Amino acid sequence: MPVQTAKKKAKKAPTKKTSKKRAASENNTKPKLYASLVVQLLSLLKGEHDFIANAANFSALLFSSLPNVNWAGFYFLQDDELVLGPFQGNPACARIPLGQGVCGVAAERVETIIVPNVHEFPGHIACDVASNSEIVVPLFDGERLIGVLDLDSATIGRFDDQDAEGLNELVTVFVGHEERLGP
Ligand code: SME
Repeated sequence: MPVQTAKKKAKKAPTKKTSKKRAASENNTKPKLYASLVVQLLSLLKGEHDFIANAANFSALLFSSLPNVNWAGFYFLQDDELVLGPFQGNPACARIPLGQGVCGVAAERVETIIVPNVHEFPGHIACDVASNSEIVVPLFDGERLIGVLDLDSATIGRFDDQDAEGLNELVTVFVGHEERLGP
């Protein structure tokens, strides 16, 4: 009797992703990730209007969802200083004067700052020695600056324009949800 044997599936030779392909798929992934974070943030904020509770959950969402991030959190503006708010990561400096460090410069210029290599940024304040790159996004109540969102990474060049766009959308959702802004 002929014995039927299962045909062995021809094994596909492993293909190496070219760097172009990898870059294309990464380009596709970031906007998708940020779109999903907007949905998750809205669900975290739903029914809760305590500013500190929401800022704490927002920083935890970023820290746990974004790859290669070793610090994510807030500094809020009080007079001419940024004061540490809810965050995830190593303990950080509690106060940053306007115009100092990446956070203080972003707050003074009221613009998002991407720093590919923090060691090349004059006046960078090192809170975690592992940090090599950083992005700081200002938070506004209308036209008024209320603070900044700060993210650090051990990877040089971790943050790009897609992160800036995604994070700006997220802080707009966050600030738009609050009835009483500031701690
Ligand atoms: N590196 C920041 C200080 C804050 S920590 O990164 C958490 C800065 O230069 O402003």
